[in-house]
Amino acid sequence: MLKWKKLIVALDLEDKGKIYNAVRKLSPKGVKFKIGSIAFTKFGPALVKTIIGKGIDVFLDLKLYDIPNTMKEASKTYVQMGCWAFTVHIKSGPKALREVKKEITAAARKLKVRRPLVLGVTELTSEAADRKSVLSLARAAKACGLDGVIASAKEAALIKRNCKLKVITPGIRAPEGARGDQRRVATANFAFAQGADYVVVGRPIISQKDYLKAAKGILAS
Ligand code: C5P
Repeated sequence: MLKWKKLIVALDLEDKGKIYNAVRKLSPKGVKFKIGSIAFTKFGPALVKTIIGKGIDVFLDLKLYDIPNTMKEASKTYVQMGCWAFTVHIKSGPKALREVKKEITAAARKLKVRRPLVLGVTELTSEAADRKSVLSLARAAKACGLDGVIASAKEAALIKRNCKLKVITPGIRAPEGARGDQRRVATANFAFAQGADYVVVGRPIISQKDYLKAAKGILAS
């Protein structure tokens, strides 16, 4: 059984036609979609709202790393957009992280909507990282009330064992697949076996002609 509901497809595309094609082909499987700085800079909140308007979960991955006031005000707009989840850098510090959580909790209550999950970026999967520093960032995220972290498959089990947090894992590749700029890569099933709650997959799916076939292949790997 393929874990479709645990797949988040990164829509890192500059072509709106391709974005909507991927959404059309893959959303019936129950996957979620991630919009990052490429598509958001080009198409803005309108794209996010259109996808959410179809009843599909959107993970807005703009990796906030700023002063507390800027972070909390930006986060509030993500609640208004109706995002399922969004990212902040854990390194932005406890004051900023706590204020983000407080702000979005209040905003969601006021708007009577579901509060988005706040996910903290540990170390980018394109960089080498030592397990100790990833775990200490995950602990900091937990202490500040974050819901989960972004971490490679290689640290997922360690985080799951030590902190009750959701783990979202990018850097997913089939064994024979091109790594691109990613360094700490793993297959989808290795990530799930390590306890990852979701895997994030971009280029191995969106660079292919047949998105559905590519997604099946990556989930089977
Ligand atoms: O194309 P690929 O599968 O490498 O895409 C991975 C996605 O996950 C990209 O959108 C990237 O920005 C994002 N990401 C990551 N590493 C992190 C956090 C997010 O690769 N630590």
